[in-house]
Amino acid sequence: MSASILIAYATRGGSTAEVAQSIAATMQEAGLAASAMAMAELKSLEGYSAVILGAPLYCGKLPREFHRFVEEHAERLGSMRPWLFVLGPTRPDAKDFELARKQAEQQIRRYGWLKIAELHIFGGRWDMQHLTFPFSLARHLPASVQAKIPPADIRDWAAIRGWALEIARMMKPAA
Ligand SMILES: Cc1cc2nc3c(=O)[nH]c(=O)nc-3n(C[C@H](O)[C@H](O)[C@H](O)COP(=O)(O)O)c2cc1C
Repeated sequence: MSASILIAYATRGGSTAEVAQSIAATMQEAGLAASAMAMAELKSLEGYSAVILGAPLYCGKLPREFHRFVEEHAERLGSMRPWLFVLGPTRPDAKDFELARKQAEQQIRRYGWLKIAELHIFGGRWDMQHLTFPFSLARHLPASVQAKIPPADIRDWAAIRGWALEIARMMKPAA
């Protein structure tokens, strides 16, 4: 029986969910049993042989549901080496990517027992229409700085699929 891979994601505006779905689809095309699921809806990690965690950064932090998920499934995650992808930068600027990496590393440092196989930073999406509360309030403030930022989506789908394939090859040498 082939390994069952879980891509567990947290999201607010939906862009991380789409990345998780793309990773799952790429792995399925490579012949692996993979599925993407929202962390908030996952009750158990039973039956999964590998886990990829995904979450976005908001003001330097990973969402509450990410932390809840990691704490709730500490025992199982502690016995695995999960991969982690983090969405953040919405400009293709190396400094933003470096900062996002530092922010993500700092967020997971509190879990000394969590041994991440690899942390990967992907570009994210900035779009006022996808903002959720309380950030969505900025839409109604005519003078808000955020309202003046043009929408951007720098998710690199080729890089996302490439990363998923790299992991797939590790799990299934023939992939
Ligand atoms: C209010 C707000 C704060 C953000 N803060 C950060 C941040 O501190 N670091 C970063 O790299 N990206 C930051 N981002 C960018 C998000 O991580 C990016 O938009 C991501 O694609 C959102 O994912 P989601 O659609 O799954 O919620 C921020 C975005 C918003 C709207």
